[in-house]
Amino acid sequence: MAVNPDTFRDALAQWPSGVTVVTTLADGNWHGMTASSFSSVSADPPLVSVCLLKGIYTHDLIATSGVFGINILAADQTELGKRFAGMIPDITDRFDGVDCHTSETGVPLFDHALAWIDCRVIFEYEGGDHTIFVGEVLDAGNPRKSAPLLYHSRSWGQFADQLPEKAAIADVGITRLETETGVELTVEKAALAAAGVAVSPAEVVVDSRDPATVEAAIAAQAKVGIDRVVLLHAFDPDRHDAVLFAASNLARGGFTEVVLDDTAADANPLVVRQRLVDISVRIKPSVTGVCLRDHAGLGLANALAALKSGVTQFDTALGGMGGLIATEDVLYLMELLNISTGASRAEAVEVAHSLARNLQLPRAVEPRPTWML
Ligand SMILES: Cc1cc2nc3c(=O)[nH]c(=O)nc-3n(C[C@H](O)[C@H](O)[C@H](O)COP(=O)(O)O)c2cc1C
Repeated sequence: MAVNPDTFRDALAQWPSGVTVVTTLADGNWHGMTASSFSSVSADPPLVSVCLLKGIYTHDLIATSGVFGINILAADQTELGKRFAGMIPDITDRFDGVDCHTSETGVPLFDHALAWIDCRVIFEYEGGDHTIFVGEVLDAGNPRKSAPLLYHSRSWGQFADQLPEKAAIADVGITRLETETGVELTVEKAALAAAGVAVSPAEVVVDSRDPATVEAAIAAQAKVGIDRVVLLHAFDPDRHDAVLFAASNLARGGFTEVVLDDTAADANPLVVRQRLVDISVRIKPSVTGVCLRDHAGLGLANALAALKSGVTQFDTALGGMGGLIATEDVLYLMELLNISTGASRAEAVEVAHSLARNLQLPRAVEPRPTWML
């Protein structure tokens, strides 16, 4: 008994896939369509395949031209996926505003795809109402390092966020407090370290708005031997590319931990997410850390966005000193999320209280109340 067509379609819809735009040429004009049937076939020789419905325009163009390109879409390119599937009415030119280049075959290849593959058809197989085109890969590129666009059950999406199992918490406030007050806090620093919170790790500070500071830090890295760099103004919404560029250069320049500092309190969960997803992929194997501020109640929301974007290093300050997110709040969040930090929140809060008592700190820098314990 033949399978019911609807049941078959519904079953296939459960298969998750990436999304590509297959491009080709017709009399020198570009054409393209969305396809998820792309697959790798062989490494040597390099071959890929795509299955296209007989009778659609792109199918006939590829059969005639004998060339096609595969453009693998990134998570932020849903609109392109819809557009090239003919799902956006009133679009007359699917390539409008899409930056493209060509390589061996002359088919359009997206400048901002996750990856592109330039192919010449070497086999065509019958596949029922589809044709399986097998292409010999003549050239390929991987212009963007970012998360992929996914398609599942007729919905567009991306990888679900996984929370890390472990995170490391550092306190950068206590050392600044020493500088500001002139009071040595050796005992409190030792207590905080004993509580499992790293105290002001050695670092180099650079400003994302000033490329000279980035270059100077890279030039000095090998000599100074400090592995951790703090990049100021790293969440400015208007400077995405500049921050990415600075972070990538610092990682390439030898820094193994790049801390993104929300210097002007620009961060919001969306900016945090977009920036970190792009940076974390780009600077691997270096680690991305964050130094977030607690403004407009967004501190922990931003910390959660950072955790979900692959960050496991958090710079904090006891009691939220200097406007940073409070060490004890972050430790509490980690506890709730079952993320191990190796730190004791109770001991950290004890240090915060001892600081407030000993230094008679003004209300604004007092530690968080003990209701959380
Ligand atoms: C996520 C997604 C994946 C698709 N994958 C394929 C595919 O692999 N093969 C195919 O023939 N059509 C596929 N389609 C449908 C084509 O994109 C659609 O029919 C398109 O309008 C064809 O363009 P054309 O008529 O200009 O050739 C897919 C559509 C979507 C939304």
